[in-house]
Amino acid sequence: MDEQATNEKILSGRNFMRARWSDEEIISDQMKQLPQPPLVKAPMGGERMSLPRDFKRLPFTQDILQVLTARKSSRVYTHEPVALLAFSFLLWAQQGIKSVRGKSYATLRTVACGGARHEFELYIAVMNVEGLKPGLYHYLPMTHELELLGEAEAAQLGAMAGSALADQPWCARGAAVFFYSVVPYRAEWRYSSNAHRVALIDAGHITQNLYVACSALNKVGTCAIAALDGEACDAMFGLDGQEEFIFYAAALGSISPNDQEKEDLFYAFLKDEEED
Ligand SMILES: Cc1cc2nc3c(=O)[nH]c(=O)nc-3n(C[C@H](O)[C@H](O)[C@H](O)COP(=O)(O)O)c2cc1C
Repeated sequence: MDEQATNEKILSGRNFMRARWSDEEIISDQMKQLPQPPLVKAPMGGERMSLPRDFKRLPFTQDILQVLTARKSSRVYTHEPVALLAFSFLLWAQQGIKSVRGKSYATLRTVACGGARHEFELYIAVMNVEGLKPGLYHYLPMTHELELLGEAEAAQLGAMAGSALADQPWCARGAAVFFYSVVPYRAEWRYSSNAHRVALIDAGHITQNLYVACSALNKVGTCAIAALDGEACDAMFGLDGQEEFIFYAAALGSISPNDQEKEDLFYAFLKDEEED
């Protein structure tokens, strides 16, 4: 891309970020009293399994100060599987539904979300989670279940996920990769053209909950991933790329304090700077 085209893209990105809530007289579909879209995506027809919810059994770090201080990105994972209860907790921490507001107006979840639209779906490439076949899954938050969309060898999944995630090979060496899709109309129905900026803000909360939950569990690590090839991710889960598309991801794996040196290598390029 030439410099002028790059600058134009930068400007349009800045304009997109700018908040102009009151400038535009938007008449949303909600104001037009058009029917509200479903609160969650219907199951896609895969084999369903319920997930354990006795989260109190997990050995959490109780000290919030310690949990927040220890929060970090981890890109080096051990080969140890992630326990099913911990995995189930991480799904719930990101998108779990606590109750429904009104008859079926909105879901109230473990994360905050503009207007409680919760316009996201959570898909997972599971490579190494205790009790789960390696494969591609869809999380069903209403019932706290997973549905299996397709089995695959862990190595094949790792390669697929790695190339869809902008060739960041470390992403695929863990136990699972979370893929976040957006179903834009769920938010557009209420917020029209303001929906998209809000959705990106909303998405940050989901992954922050994942980071904090991993930090409280101590033995699992995560790293958010924005550098990805959306079309390749959509193809993995059979999404249409218009009414629903993947735009964000996070890797997950077991971690060990012995790997800190390997972890530091990701920023080895700063070493020369420190020595100057
Ligand atoms: C929205 C978002 C996108 C990110 N995308 C990537 C990514 O694609 N690749 C990567 O290696 N790290 C990614 N990261 C991790 C950041 O580089 C990391 O949070 C940052 O270096 C600070 O490190 P810390 O999380 O350990 O505090 C992302 C983080 C966020 C919040």
